[in-house]
Amino acid sequence: MVINNDTGPTTNSLENINKMLNSSYIGRIYKYYEVIDSTNDEAKRLCKSKNTIKSGTVLLSEIQTKGKGKENRAWFSSKGASLTFSIIIKNNFSNKNLSLFPLVIGAAVCSALRMKNIDGNLKWPNDIYIGSKKIGGILCERTINSSASDYIIIGIGININTQKEVFPDSIKDTAGSILSETKIMCNRKELLCLILQSIEKYIDIAYVQNDTDTILKYVRNYSNTINKDIILIKRDGSKVSAFAENINKLGKLIINIDGSLHEIVSGEVSLKLN
Ligand code: BTN
Repeated sequence: MVINNDTGPTTNSLENINKMLNSSYIGRIYKYYEVIDSTNDEAKRLCKSKNTIKSGTVLLSEIQTKGKGKENRAWFSSKGASLTFSIIIKNNFSNKNLSLFPLVIGAAVCSALRMKNIDGNLKWPNDIYIGSKKIGGILCERTINSSASDYIIIGIGININTQKEVFPDSIKDTAGSILSETKIMCNRKELLCLILQSIEKYIDIAYVQNDTDTILKYVRNYSNTINKDIILIKRDGSKVSAFAENINKLGKLIINIDGSLHEIVSGEVSLKLN
């Protein structure tokens, strides 16, 4: 059964989101591209070439020809059924705890999904899951231009109404979409607006109000990683079984291996949930 099938030809276009958006700065400047190589790369080019880029500028593309994921892997998305976008945030928080930033964004995305009764979870550090399938990912990058303006680029890709059959063989066992995992067909524009609003709120809590305790509570609440048996996959391919105990104030995952605690930093290893 398909619920909430409201993606008609008019509502499915992402060219303009102004009427639906209820944020103060994120998405107020909105650049839509039918086709681009990568919204993160375009965001970086914009930050390098201009000194007038407004914080909160959003770049969204219907098709990315070189969409990239973590570790320079290709990011798969499907035309008309995904969300692929980047948000430029002026980094005025340079003396603050930026290692938590991708987790803050991940929790904000999960919170937006929950508003539509979609049970999105955050797999440490920044993958979005429904059940055992990865439905989205976050790639945060940083760029400093020649005038020393410092920007964080938040790249987000989410498979929304993607049919299971279209995922390439290489990811078809691990990837999913909101539709494939919940049978809910979403209005992409509405979801995009909820995500942008949620990100604005979460950045405010973490970096304007500096309320790390509250933000950590949200991060832990949406986490599907803590209190679970996990398998760590090291760079050399070797595997270690561990128990994920917690996420600390620096965004590190605290794991227990045979009774001793270790902190892991994002990017050091990859994780498999048991
Ligand atoms: C991951 O590997 O999980 C992160 C995926 C991030 C993909 C998004 S799609 C929009 C933005 N532009 C890119 O090229 N990548 C990010």
